[in-house]
Amino acid sequence: MKKLMALSLATVLAASLMAPAVFAEGEKVGVSMPTKDLQRWNQDGANMQAELEAAGFEVDLQYASNDVQTQLSQIENMISSGANVLVIAAIEGSSLGEALDMAKENDIPVIAYDRLLMESDAVSYYATFDNYMVGTVQGQYIIDTLDLENADGPFNLEITAGDPGDNNAGYFYNGAMDLLKPYIEEGKLVVKSGQVEFDDVATPTWATEVAQSRAENILSSNYADGTNVDVWLCSNDSTALGVENALAANYSGEYPIITGQDCDINNTKNMIAGKQSMSVFKDTRTLASQVVKMVGQILNGEEVDVNDTETYDNGVLVVPSYLCEPVFADANNYKELLIDSGYYTEDQLQ
Ligand code: BGC
Repeated sequence: MKKLMALSLATVLAASLMAPAVFAEGEKVGVSMPTKDLQRWNQDGANMQAELEAAGFEVDLQYASNDVQTQLSQIENMISSGANVLVIAAIEGSSLGEALDMAKENDIPVIAYDRLLMESDAVSYYATFDNYMVGTVQGQYIIDTLDLENADGPFNLEITAGDPGDNNAGYFYNGAMDLLKPYIEEGKLVVKSGQVEFDDVATPTWATEVAQSRAENILSSNYADGTNVDVWLCSNDSTALGVENALAANYSGEYPIITGQDCDINNTKNMIAGKQSMSVFKDTRTLASQVVKMVGQILNGEEVDVNDTETYDNGVLVVPSYLCEPVFADANNYKELLIDSGYYTEDQLQ
């Protein structure tokens, strides 16, 4: 009996070295996602659920239909039903205070997923992609494709950014605009609509329809006379899709360079069809695996893997973060990035 116990203890210890989550068996992780409307969050949720369950955790995965009240009550329910860790991708980073206070009172660690949770001291860690880099990849692509260093221009640029309630949106916008602003000041890039500042180009809830109707207005007011819009900086794929829809119905000039982010299926199809120039691939499997690792480390009392302790100030504290690297994608490399890696099947992109 003693021998058996010693053996099983050794086995458990050995297993714990290989897979730290073994001690967390049966513990419960609440995963709160913003919406099912956008493809990426479905993948994020599904990947995390699969990996957490494979690591032996129980998972309470909820989607909040882009409604802040729903997200608040879903998180409160996760806490009341015994979650040991919370992973939250907020609809609005600053609006979950009550639920976060409740998590803190119950000593439940919170990982902000992809989007930072603002104005709260209850946030333990943040896992995301390097959001500023996403913007610089888009901005640099525009500089290189138009050869802004050497070309005389001027080129007409329009800008569509993200949701003001999402802390990421400012990072994407700034990453791109820090590179493009000098060319706007020099007059090589001209924004005919005059809408340049973040507040003027933002898209509440990142909605495709909102981006589309703003783009329709811009096109009819500034480009209906046959003037070309040469480039449209879009912060992500859902907004790029809105701009692409607006162009299809309301524009007859030369097709512009259009940027995006996420490699959503419809946008990847559009890249292949020449209707979107590029996207930024953020492999949600990488982020999900990182978060699963961090959950295991937290519950096992181990040091948690972070690689940035300076950038993400949520207004109350600088949240220790792990930033994954985003990758440039276009019609030339999508096969390797998305199909060979098993992210999509070829059929999904037909
Ligand atoms: C994410 C993007 C996404 C956007 C809209 C952002 O917080 O980082 O990947 O496109 O939200 O859902």
